Amino acid sequence: MASLRDLFVRTAGRAADYRHAAADGPVFPAGVDVDAVRAALGELADGPVPATVAVEELADALEPALVATTGPRYFGFVVGGALDAASAADILTTGWDQPAFNAVTSPAAAMVEDVAGTWLKELLGLPAQASFGFATGGQAANTVCLAAARHQVLAEAGWDVEHAGLVGAPPVRVVATSERHATIDRALRLLGLGAGVLEPVVTDSQGAIDVSELARVLAAGPAGPTIVCLQAGNVNSGAFDDLKTGTATAHEHGAWVHIDGAFGLWAAASPTTAGLIAGIETADSWATDGHKWLNVPYDSGYAFCAHPDAHAAAMSYTAAYLSGQGQGGLRAPADYVLESSRRARGVATWAALRQLGRSGIAELVERCCSLARRFAEQLATVDGVEVVNDVVLNQVLVSFSDDRRTERVVDQVQRSGECWMGATTWHGQRLMRISVSNWRTTPSDVDRSVAAILGAANDHQAR
Ligand SMILES: Cc1ncc(COP(=O)(O)O)c(C=O)c1O
Repeated sequence: MASLRDLFVRTAGRAADYRHAAADGPVFPAGVDVDAVRAALGELADGPVPATVAVEELADALEPALVATTGPRYFGFVVGGALDAASAADILTTGWDQPAFNAVTSPAAAMVEDVAGTWLKELLGLPAQASFGFATGGQAANTVCLAAARHQVLAEAGWDVEHAGLVGAPPVRVVATSERHATIDRALRLLGLGAGVLEPVVTDSQGAIDVSELARVLAAGPAGPTIVCLQAGNVNSGAFDDLKTGTATAHEHGAWVHIDGAFGLWAAASPTTAGLIAGIETADSWATDGHKWLNVPYDSGYAFCAHPDAHAAAMSYTAAYLSGQGQGGLRAPADYVLESSRRARGVATWAALRQLGRSGIAELVERCCSLARRFAEQLATVDGVEVVNDVVLNQVLVSFSDDRRTERVVDQVQRSGECWMGATTWHGQRLMRISVSNWRTTPSDVDRSVAAILGAANDHQAR
């Protein structure tokens, strides 16, 4: 029988082989046979098999249906690749299997989060005293931050929402850009505030909030508990809200300012893009992802809060059997997120930050932005192809004259296997949506992808 060591080595080897092959194979698997995959996964068995057999069966069944998001020509959604050190560290995380609840369940997990969280704040230009939680992603981080916001704005109105809930509470106003990410709405639903309370503020032509409208909307409503959600990085265009003016305006009205920067917060890591995010440190909470631009494997997100007490009040809990909160002076990671029993996410994040260092992360951000511009420059020269956004970051939106043609071009490119990018509707137009977020993407990957796009555009001429 194979030893555990052999099993781990073989399994990691298989993952590494897949990752290598992802550079050249089809980005999206051609003709996934859902029935065949299901059949290969089989029925619930009556008895056991050796671990090697289980793992080999699993890998054989699923590999034909994998999408090469780790490869260099995946430009869908805002999906980062996974850095080598972060991926290997995640294998360690699995091997160690530490419940990252507090210092009693794992001093190692608590300490690595503490260090990595401090590094993240330095890198992103956030206040040193801010608290942080390692979450599953941007959705979870937005929810955590808005829970802290809900706590604080209601506490200032004399209401303890953690104890009394929302029934009978003073109404909470939530003001956000009309182009906020949909996870803000879901967070408001989950927090009992309701997506319907949202007061949308119009944007400019690039999808950044109109700050004079923000001031008008705030002034038009009643004073009282208020949360303003700003955005660093519009999910379509990459545009940034004016964080400095927006935050100052919101603070004049006593509001809590939350910044959703799932990918855009990383602009802070490079001097070439840091100007986009000026004023970031003046907000009250921030959400970003590790699994997008930092290229930490899924899943990984971070919630930061300038008011650690509100953050902990919204998230922490205890029970008689749960010993060790704050033991040895170590912060308890679970006090700052939604989950109790949780993966030691600090491990992979630490490894990503250690592998790249400040200069490597700045270079990653700059390279992705420059490759996004390369896409835009090449596509914009072609008749019937229009780049409709200002490419300020890593997002490119492309129109192929009419919605129907755009749909067809996107569909053909996706099916080609050469690269993968999605479609979106933005400002009334169907568009190809390109996001460059992977450390493995090179100029020649962009050129190959542009050739595939233009080939598809040629096959579907404008009407
Ligand atoms: C601006 C923004 N906010 C939030 C999210 C949600 O992040 P996640 O998918 O990691 O939960 C995204 C995802 O693309 C995003 O772009």
